[in-house]
Amino acid sequence: MDKMRICGGVPLKGKILISGAKNAALPLMAASLLSDETLTLINVPRLADIATMANLLGQHGVELGLNGNDNSLPRISGQTLDLKASRISSTLAPYDLVRKMRASILVLGPLLARCREAKVSLPGGCAIGTRPVDLHIAALESMGAEIVIADGYINARAPKGLHGAEIVFPMVTVTGTENILMAAAIAKGETVIINAAREPEITDLANCLAAMGAKIEGIGTDCLRVCGVERLRSAKHIVVADRIEAGTFAIAAAITSGKLELIGTRHEHLLSLWNILESIGIKSEPTKDGVMVCRRTDDLQSVDITTEPYPGFPTDLQAQIMALMCVSSGAATISETIFENRFMHVPELLRMGADITVHNSTAVVRGVSKLKGAPVMATDLRASVSLALAGLVAEGETILNRIYHLDRGYERLEEKLRACGAKIERIRA
Ligand code: UD1
Repeated sequence: MDKMRICGGVPLKGKILISGAKNAALPLMAASLLSDETLTLINVPRLADIATMANLLGQHGVELGLNGNDNSLPRISGQTLDLKASRISSTLAPYDLVRKMRASILVLGPLLARCREAKVSLPGGCAIGTRPVDLHIAALESMGAEIVIADGYINARAPKGLHGAEIVFPMVTVTGTENILMAAAIAKGETVIINAAREPEITDLANCLAAMGAKIEGIGTDCLRVCGVERLRSAKHIVVADRIEAGTFAIAAAITSGKLELIGTRHEHLLSLWNILESIGIKSEPTKDGVMVCRRTDDLQSVDITTEPYPGFPTDLQAQIMALMCVSSGAATISETIFENRFMHVPELLRMGADITVHNSTAVVRGVSKLKGAPVMATDLRASVSLALAGLVAEGETILNRIYHLDRGYERLEEKLRACGAKIERIRA
């Protein structure tokens, strides 16, 4: 297994082109199942999770064509992907593919809506908690699906097709909202999704569906009203920039006392992070091409943080901000309200000299004057990158093990950091 070697202490300086968002590209790819015409996605990041979704769609019969970069567009680094589901040859999403990536559940709504049946493996547990899909299932049932869970599979049928319904999500679910939004786009009648997730990735999906001919009102709000249409047509869509990748690099600038311009970042997608960074002592400014991030003061101040659904502070940046708090002055509490087991990075940060105590879903982080490099490993994507951030400021050498997690969600991480001065290299197994 590949590892990463990081020697800390270099302030990062320069520009980083932010990739297309993984969490937008995955549902957008699944949306191709809704139409028999070609969906062209521009700025798709090159990531292991994208390859997994491509494999899954391929085995449903979707024809995929990769067309390299579209260099004619500014601030775009990703590949262009054509997806054509003229015929769906299989409605089975097998365990072997689903277990690799929970987001595979995103094929359930589109398959059921288009083919009136789907058999999708239950995603099962994962490193950051149990993450059930009961809300996806209940919502599809209220749209007329008959669902039986047996032998680890969700067996779903809608012999008369899906119909519109009023769906009130008892808690905010990102992929749950996406699954229902996609299904509702071609269901019969009107679907209202109340307490819908409002993440920018959902807005991106809704805009793409609208370009395909879907009728959606309330885009960007917590109440989506979808009037089902008979069929969706071909469309071209540019995947939105990855706000979590951008936020991670913003924290990299902050933790190393550097200055980075994050090209392609939409400033308005990370307001919760910018507010927190401002209180810590970091300045962020929109520029013509993205966002500039640098320190405002020498001494960083700890700030309490609670993760929340968008527009609150994202759980996907919790581990990274914790690395920053480890080297800030004072003490801060970090409360995780979305996933119950998302402090897997804490024991590893402790090995690097951090001072953190965890009480249930709250971590108390007391700043230390320095972290020290150590061999570390992580069990999920964001935890891994938080250890890389800690390594960038730590004294000495950090060896990050199990970096396949990073490859699931960060495109060319070490190349991007190295171009800004970081001493970081991949050690191939
Ligand atoms: C998505 C993101 C993930 C991010 C998370 C929260 C993708 C591919 N993944 O994951 O990166 O960390 O949003 O912002 O976009 N829940 C239930 N029942 C359900 C569904 C969810 O109880 O049927 C709970 C979950 O256990 C969790 C909370 O709701 O506690 C939010 O989860 P959800 O928004 O659904 O996360 P994902 O869509 O899986």
